[in-house]
Amino acid sequence: MDKIRYGIIGIGKMGSLHCMRFKGKLIKGGALTAVCDISPERREWAEKNFPKVKFFEDYKEMMESGLVDAVLIATPHYLHPEMAKAALSRGLHTLIEKPAGVFTSAIRELNEFAKEKKDLVFGIMYNQRTNKLYRYAKMLVDSGRLGEMKRINWIITDWYRPQAYYDQGGWRGTWVGEGGGALINQCPHQLDLFQWLGGMPSKIIGYAKVGVKRDINVENDVTAYFEYPNGASGVFITSTHDFPGTNRLEIDGDKGKLVIENNKLTFTELAVSETEFNATNKKFMPKIPVKKKHVVRISKLGQLAQLVFGQHTEIIRNFTAAIQDGNPMIAPGEDGINGLTVSNAIHLSSWLNEPVTLPIDEKRFEEELAKRIEEEKELNKKKV
Ligand SMILES: NC(=O)c1ccc[n+]([C@@H]2O[C@H](COP(=O)([O-])OP(=O)(O)OC[C@H]3O[C@@H](n4cnc5c(N)ncnc54)[C@H](O)[C@@H]3O)[C@@H](O)[C@H]2O)c1
Repeated sequence: MDKIRYGIIGIGKMGSLHCMRFKGKLIKGGALTAVCDISPERREWAEKNFPKVKFFEDYKEMMESGLVDAVLIATPHYLHPEMAKAALSRGLHTLIEKPAGVFTSAIRELNEFAKEKKDLVFGIMYNQRTNKLYRYAKMLVDSGRLGEMKRINWIITDWYRPQAYYDQGGWRGTWVGEGGGALINQCPHQLDLFQWLGGMPSKIIGYAKVGVKRDINVENDVTAYFEYPNGASGVFITSTHDFPGTNRLEIDGDKGKLVIENNKLTFTELAVSETEFNATNKKFMPKIPVKKKHVVRISKLGQLAQLVFGQHTEIIRNFTAAIQDGNPMIAPGEDGINGLTVSNAIHLSSWLNEPVTLPIDEKRFEEELAKRIEEEKELNKKKV
């Protein structure tokens, strides 16, 4: 098949990097033919760096130009669902940036819409799914080698963001601009991986603290407790004000335990499952024999390859191959609702100060979010 002609909507920080991936000829089977942004400054950038690529100010015009077969949407999150629907309804393959959106009802609608468009490929930029260590973890979970999950814990606090980050203005770190703070901006990849590896929880208790050590009115310090249908439990901790931060994922299974930290995965595989061991053991404080300790690292070369070719490149290549050859997708667009559900549930639980069971009350979430947007507007009026 000929090259897939791409149009990128939103050529800010992320969208412009995607443009460079095409310029660097990293996307085999794809070519950049159009870009779109509402910012005059971004237009100037595009005209200087991509003189042969058609620039559009209006995304619908770009979609109807006949110049593109696929779009990559890299605008602020609220816009992802409506732009994705507009693209799919015009017969275009659609790849959205993370998070899928801000509230799940919009994504549910988008997913239903996308499901009807059987000839079109719909994907999401969950680039961390290409990380070798998370892939290995996924293999351990899916193959049954880890055994039934008992516990999943992730401390991800290495997102240090000083006041200057929040003071740059724009849509980031606001309810109106992006629907929250650390959960919706920094953590969508981890919340996706949390559910990709651990499955969807049935109950969540969340504490999303607002403005800890920062003058902001969105959350920057989160602790959430999860319960799973099989009785397993989990904890997810994140913050943007800890330094130095931690990034440690642990999953305990009946047949072993995996830990990912400092670019290294360690899987301690038990010789017998804990259930089997416990059924026959007579000692009071025994140790279960270990079959093998497996260690997987990302080498310096691997890290370099990630820098040069990058996880994002792999997702765009995979999306292109799915269009051309029907290759299986690493991150189908429909998956976007899962991590967002977890994010919305943590917020809702924290706002209501009570446990939340899944599926969440979407209407209640939207009402509570709308309240915070109104409060934020009032606060900003007072500040002026
Ligand atoms: N996958 C990742 O690793 C990753 C990393 C960073 C950002 N992101 C995601 O990418 C998205 C964009 O983030 P960013 O950091 O590039 O933001 P940004 O503000 O730098 O860029 C967004 C661009 O969208 C443009 N835009 C806004 N409304 C538009 C409209 N109606 N039509 C066309 N263009 C419009 C803006 O002018 C801006 O240039 C966010 O959803 C973010 O979460 C993903």
